[in-house]
Amino acid sequence: MLALTARRMGYRIATLDPDPSCPASPVSDLTLTASFDDSSALRRLAEASDVVTYEFENIPVESLRQIASCRSVFPDPSILHICQHRERERDFLKSSGFPAPRYSVVTSASELSEALKSFPGKTRLKSSAFGYDGKGQLPLDPKSDSIQAWEQIRVPRAVLEEHVPFIREISVLVARNAQGRSVTFPPFENRHVNGILERTIFPARIPDAIAKDAMDLAVRIAVKLGLVGLLAVELFELSDGRLLVNELAPRVHNSGHLTAEACPTSQFEQQIRAVCGLPLGDVSPLTPAVMFNLLGDLWKQGEPDWAPVLATPGASLHLYGKSEARPGRKMGHLTLRASSIREAIRLGSKTMNPIRQKAGLPPLLD
Ligand SMILES: Nc1ncnc2c1ncn2[C@@H]1O[C@H](COP(=O)(O)OP(=O)(O)O)[C@@H](O)[C@H]1O
Ligand SMILES: [Mg+2]
Repeated sequence: MLALTARRMGYRIATLDPDPSCPASPVSDLTLTASFDDSSALRRLAEASDVVTYEFENIPVESLRQIASCRSVFPDPSILHICQHRERERDFLKSSGFPAPRYSVVTSASELSEALKSFPGKTRLKSSAFGYDGKGQLPLDPKSDSIQAWEQIRVPRAVLEEHVPFIREISVLVARNAQGRSVTFPPFENRHVNGILERTIFPARIPDAIAKDAMDLAVRIAVKLGLVGLLAVELFELSDGRLLVNELAPRVHNSGHLTAEACPTSQFEQQIRAVCGLPLGDVSPLTPAVMFNLLGDLWKQGEPDWAPVLATPGASLHLYGKSEARPGRKMGHLTLRASSIREAIRLGSKTMNPIRQKAGLPPLLD
């Protein structure tokens, strides 16, 4: 989606990805199929490019540094270094005074057992590295068996954090350019099912004051990081209106996919603008919208029949062209625009439920 957008803006694209059938390859002028630490592929990518960016966090920071020695890389590799590792991310937030869940770093079953004693209620054990879509996480409580939990998570380092009784999850996307100007999308409201984003509602159904707090917080984080590019800030909203930062991602984000239809400038275009030194674009909402992720589970009886979806006014179907559908794998998404959020959700259920039923899945909740 980033490459498609860059293409529309008149750029040529070189892509490095270990997977020869990666979704960007059909729209790239140059596709380098190599691991992310292949230094000759990294050199070729740098030589072919004027500016390099990324849309995936599990890249060795050393690889970005190699490219940065001869080409501009945005966001700066030091930002990925913080955001790709939960301990560094949590330490950054804490030392900078940004509100976040209470946490403890653990590297063994005995440290886990000690840490559990300092949390009175439910907790979450999260792998320090490589987690996504709720993977590498275990919900625990004070009575949990720490030896068993440590064996189950099977990672060298993890973060134990308090379970947050949030009333809502929201996210904010902020873009910042090299001149230090920032533009923030209004907050997105997110619902996760089994740790995976199920839907995003835009604009988030929150009071204006909370939206403003969330946007201010995102800008302050972007400034503190020295961001040039795009940053997603995932937040928990508490019943008293406070916000806690859950995660940072220095890239386009799943919750921002609907900006392609709902804003004059999409998150993809905004990232390209920011890293290419162009003026940042207008992000005021054009329409209420809801996005549903299309997971591989829907492919259980083969590829769904998209004809009724395509016939729905206000529906935009995005399929990523991934070759294999696996349960929980994000295969595409569906954005619905309507005159109200309620109507967009109703349209979403109406179009999605027959497909879900065919795949043996329960209907969407409202
Ligand atoms: N401390 C927590 N308290 C309550 N729910 C949590 C907590 N941490 C994560 N979650 C839930 O799990 C989802 C995924 O966790 P997250 O830390 O964002 O990891 P990732 O998105 O990288 O898989 C969150 O969006 C939220 O729904
Ligand atoms: Mg997350």
